[in-house]
Order: sequence, then structure tokens, then C-alpha cells
Amino acid sequence: MARDHRWALITGATGGLGRAFAGSLARRGYDLVLTARNGDALEAMAADLRSRHGGQVIVNVADLAEPEACLQLKQAIDARGIVIETLVANAGYGIQGRLVARPREAELGMVEVNVRALTDLTHLFARDMAERGGGHILLVASTAAYQPIPGYAVYAASKAYVLAFGHALHRELARRKVVVTVTCPGPTETPFWERAGHRLNRMASAVLMTPDAVAEISLDALYAARSSVVPGLANRLITLSTRLLPRSLLALGASYFMSNSK
Ligand SMILES: NC(=O)c1ccc[n+]([C@@H]2O[C@H](COP(=O)([O-])OP(=O)(O)OC[C@H]3O[C@@H](n4cnc5c(N)ncnc54)[C@H](OP(=O)(O)O)[C@@H]3O)[C@@H](O)[C@H]2O)c1
Repeated sequence: MARDHRWALITGATGGLGRAFAGSLARRGYDLVLTARNGDALEAMAADLRSRHGGQVIVNVADLAEPEACLQLKQAIDARGIVIETLVANAGYGIQGRLVARPREAELGMVEVNVRALTDLTHLFARDMAERGGGHILLVASTAAYQPIPGYAVYAASKAYVLAFGHALHRELARRKVVVTVTCPGPTETPFWERAGHRLNRMASAVLMTPDAVAEISLDALYAARSSVVPGLANRLITLSTRLLPRSLLALGASYFMSNSK
């Protein structure tokens, strides 16, 4: 089958969900630009994707916590003459702990990657897409976006930003035929939890999903032009309940749901 060279950019491509997005987009016929900090992991993944799917896969190592990283990434992609049709803004992380018990840089680092870099990249690529009159942007938030989470105060707030930002952009860009979709996964089986220093308790483990299932559902929602999606029935029920309960009660419930069994 002839390929029409549609390109997708995936941030956080070395992670569990990033890898799943890359596999799914390669199967959907996209050529890929993969980015993250770990160059060796990116190269290994690129080689594997090329051999399994036959498309073009290029890597660009970037630390998105650096203020100019998104602009430099965009310039490197432009310099290759690549036009990004789909952006998956997936890079992000959370670290469990009380705000006052954690170093200032660690808390601000989450804001840099989860909020500032995601906003910067979306701005850079959405402008091109709007000018061309087409494109797709998937923003990876979380069910954490729906309520305050003691122990993940900054992380949950950063994902609430992504959800509100994405819904607004969905409407702003619809006229320009650019689709913006926010995906809000619940607990997913990826290295996220080990990096967060968190062992899931029984309640959270019961709703754990695979990254492949989350990626498929999220990309289906993107190409169906939905404004947002919460993968998994249990996660949808949990987010629906947040519409009915006061935030003080939600914060209490979230602190039990997200308690660390370590
Ligand atoms: N797993 C879950 O339960 C879950 C649930 C809801 C939402 N999410 C969200 O899903 C997204 C992907 O997470 P995941 O679960 O796949 O976790 P993960 O395996 O830890 O992946 C995180 C990815 O982000 C990249 N990253 C982190 N800091 C970065 C930085 N400064 N610059 C560039 N890249 C950076 C990492 O790559 P390098 O370390 O190589 O840079 C890695 O590829 C995140 O936004 C997360 O908040 C996860």
C-alpha cells in the first residue's frame, strides 16, 4: 500500500503511553517524529517501529523542561521539511508527596513539562495547522484533572489545566478544521508509577488499563473529532461522580483512592 507521508509528532515517546501511541499511529499509516530525553531508548524504538511497520521514524532528543526546547524542536522539524499532521502532547510526569515536603525545583519541574511545554508546543504546531486548514492535536491529561488530589497537588492541578486548555482550543480551532482532543486516562500500566514513587493500592489497581487500550481509545476519539475522552467505563463513572460532589469531599475521596501502598 502506498504511503501518503502524513507525519505525527509524539512527545514522551519513550514512556508506556508514548510507545503505545507510536505503535498505533504507525499502524494507522503515519510516519513518526519521536521525542523524549533518553536518546538510546528513542533510537531503539525507532528501529523497532521501522522494521515492524516500514514507515519513516526519526528521533529528536529534547528536555522539555528547558525553556527553548519546544521552539528548537519545531525548528528542527521545519528544517527537515516535515509537516506535522498530528501532535500527541503526551510527555509528563507526577511525583507523589506533600508540597511542603518536596524540593521547589521538583514541584516546578512538573509545571514546566506538563503545562508550559505542552502549551508552547500546542501553540507552535496549532498555528501551522490553522494556517493550512487542517490537523489533529491530542493532549494527554488524566482523570486527575477532575478533582484535587492531596499528595499530587501540583500534578492534579497541571492536568486540570490541560483539560480546560484543550476544551477551549477544541472550540477555538474548529473553524480552522484543526481537531483538539483531550484524553483523560485513569491509572495505566506504565513506568509512571515507579517514577512517581507510588505503589497503587487495591482500589486503583482494580481500574488499571493497558497503555495499548488507552492509546487506541484516545486516537479513535481524536480522529472522530471529539473534544475529550475518558478511556474505560470505571474511569468514566469516577469522573461523572465529580460533577455531583463538592470539591472538599472529592479531595478526601481522592486521597484514599491515591494512597500509596508502599
Ligand atoms: N500511567 C498513568 O497511570 C497515567 C494516567 C493518566 C495520565 N498519564 C499521563 O500520560 C503521559 C505519559 O505517561 P506514562 O504513563 O507513559 O509515563 P512514563 O512511562 O513515565 O512516560 C513519561 C514520558 O515523558 C517523558 N518525559 C518526562 N519528562 C520529560 C522532559 N523533561 N522532557 C522530555 N520528555 C520528558 C519521558 O521520557 P524521558 O524520561 O526519556 O525524557 C517519558 O517518555 C503523562 O503526561 C502522564 O501524566 C499517565
